[in-house]
This record gives sequence, structure tokens and C-alpha cells, in this order.
Amino acid sequence: MKPVGPIPDGYGSIDGELAIGGRSASALVAEAGGTPLFVYSRSHLDARMAELRAALPQRVGVNYAVKANPHPAVIAHMAPLVDGFDIASAGELSLCLAAGIDPARISFAGPGKRDAELEAAISAGVTLNCESEGEGARALAIGQRLGRAPRIAIRVNPAFVMTGSGMKMGGGAKPFGVDAERVPGLARHLIAEGAEWRGLHIFTGSQTLSADAIIAAQANVLALAADLTVAIGEPLPKLNMGGGLGIPYFPGDMPVDLPGVGAALSERLADLPAVLRDTALCMELGRYLVGEAGVYLTRIIDRKESHGVTFLVTDGGLHHQLAASGNFGTVVRRNYPSAIATRYGAEPTEEVNIVGCLCTPLDRLADNAAMPRAEVGDLVAVFCAGAYGASASPSAFLGHGPAAELLV
Ligand SMILES: Cc1ncc(COP(=O)(O)O)c(C=O)c1O
Repeated sequence: MKPVGPIPDGYGSIDGELAIGGRSASALVAEAGGTPLFVYSRSHLDARMAELRAALPQRVGVNYAVKANPHPAVIAHMAPLVDGFDIASAGELSLCLAAGIDPARISFAGPGKRDAELEAAISAGVTLNCESEGEGARALAIGQRLGRAPRIAIRVNPAFVMTGSGMKMGGGAKPFGVDAERVPGLARHLIAEGAEWRGLHIFTGSQTLSADAIIAAQANVLALAADLTVAIGEPLPKLNMGGGLGIPYFPGDMPVDLPGVGAALSERLADLPAVLRDTALCMELGRYLVGEAGVYLTRIIDRKESHGVTFLVTDGGLHHQLAASGNFGTVVRRNYPSAIATRYGAEPTEEVNIVGCLCTPLDRLADNAAMPRAEVGDLVAVFCAGAYGASASPSAFLGHGPAAELLV
């Protein structure tokens, strides 16, 4: 038997079925026109933002990293809740502009920005988080051609890493950002050439559950930003301190101690170096904002036995939920939180393997999991599906097509 991860708070049941946003799983599937389906819960999005606002110092803004979930309804819902949006492509820029988001609230990070992307961002007045000297030169040239001063911050590749982080974005050779020691020279050059100086972006890691690791990274980020500001010799308008807050996916994972992170940050801000006194501060969060708000629903198409093992074969799979299958940056496959949505809360009576409909052994949703007995037609729920699900999975693979998405 392999345990499944912890089901996030805030999900209830109606008539023995999983309920999301006050509606049963079957009702949601009927509304969407069938499975597979991602359901995103407004009340979870609202609750998470309220927790953050309560825990973080008022001075620290919250930016939404659109890459976590670029569904238009999710972006529109987040627009009044967050202070800014971080995008990674012209495609995400278009989605934000279509949602009516003021370009002054948008910043654009990512290595390999194409000229057309730089042009779209500069024309709109979006801040570029500049990733290299070469990108800075291209932005200046494009700005000159357009007759528009590019708004530029520099993404820093710091010497330190965020310990305990699932994905490390700093420390040593990285394709992201400019090595810290080269930042002052580049900043002075960009400013001298007429760029509008927007500040620094220091993103050190992602999916961290340790408050201590986050607190240490934030202290390092603030100290580095102060040193760089002195070396640049210009006031720092804005510091994007990164994020990294993770969510519990697997058995034994514990939520981040958010009040602890907030309290430590308040202490730091009370003792901030003078050069950062007037600097606007923000954090940049993706999965922490949206991950637990999403549930992936898929229907059991077949129930079969092989050598004494029961397989529940669903109409979904890794083409929508690559991360839950264990093929998105995980070393050892563990079970995401999952349940039989149409028998929610019923006692487990058997051990099953829940698999997808793709003809690859990689397509697994839950291995050796204890579940109530489920039949063909029952719905399976995979939780923590709000981030890096629909948009981070190979939905064209094998031609089953994308899943529907619904915000409730
Ligand atoms: C620059 C940047 N911002 C934000 C994120 C979002 O991270 P998460 O969704 O874990 O908060 C990432 C993740 O890789 C990133 O590279």
C-alpha cells in the first residue's frame, strides 16, 4: 500500500460526493459537458490571498506568476486580488492584456525573450526583468526604434541558493539572470543609455515547504539588493524578492509556516538598510496562490485485473496532469492527493492502481492506493491540480485532446 498525499483544506461533500464551490463533482462534470475536467475554486483562491495579506507586512506586495495557471478566468479572478503579474512570454502578456490588466502592473522574466516579445512588452510599457547583457542591448535598440524608453529591471543570479527548494534558480552557473557581480555595471549602462530603471528581481527557488529556508533566502535577497544598490549608485525603485512558497503534495509534507515567514519578514523590514527604505517590495508566487485551488476530475472507463492487481483505467492521465504522474521534475514517484470523487469520504476497502488512458507505463495517477470500491462511471479526483496542470502537460500527446477547465 502506498499512501496518497494530503487533501487540501476547504473541500466538502454533497450526497456522498466531493463538492467544490458548493457543487458536487457530478454536477460540475455535467455543467462542463464531461470529463476530463479541471475545476478551480474561487473560494480557495480568495482564502489563500486573505491568508497572505494577513501574514505578510503591508509593504510587501504579492505578484501572481501566471505560468502556474494561465487560464483566462483564473487570471481575471486574480486581477483585483494581487498587486502585479509576472509573465514569461508574449502569450502570457496577451492573456493579461485581454484580462484588462494595466501593463504597469506586469513584469516579464524568462531567458530567451525574442525580439518580437521584447517589442510587445516595451510598446505596452511592461517591465522587462532583463536576463543578460545581450538582452539589455536588444531592449535598448528596440526601445530606440520605437521611440520609447524600455522599463528595465535586472534579474540577478545570486551566489546563494534557497535550501530545500524543489527547483533552484540561483547559485552557480544558471541560464537565469545576470551573475550578481556583473549587475552594477549592466545597470549603470542601461540607465546611461536611457532605460527607465525599475529595479531588481531575485528569484531563488520554488516549491519550498521550510519556513526557515524561505526566511534565510529573504534575508540574503534583501542584503544582496542593498549591496547592489550601493554599487549601482541609483535609488532602487522596486525589489521583486522572489517567492518559493510550496504546497504539500505528498504524504508527510507539512504546509509552510506562513505566519512565521511573515513575522520574520516584518522584523527584517524594521531593520532595513537605508538604501532600501523607499524601495517598493513584492513577492512572486505561482503554485502557492493557485495550486490547492484546483482539482482534476476524470472518469473510470474500465476496471480490470492483472496478476491480482486491480487497475482503474480513467479517461484522463499524464497528458493533463504530468506532475501527478511523476514525470515533471520528480525523482521518486509518489502519490498526489487523490480520491474517488463520487464515493467521497467512504471507507477504503481495496488497493488499486489508478492509471490514465495513454498506452505508456508512465501514465499513472495513483499507485497501490487504498480506495473505496469504485466502478466504471465513477469519478476520480486528483487534488493540488491548480498549478502546472493543464498548461504544463503534453495535451496533444496521443490525440485525446485537452481537458475542460472551469472556475467555480
Ligand atoms: C521566475 C519565476 N517566477 C515564478 C515562478 C513560480 O514558482 P512557483 O509556482 O513555485 O511559485 C517560477 C518557477 O519556476 C520562476 O522561475
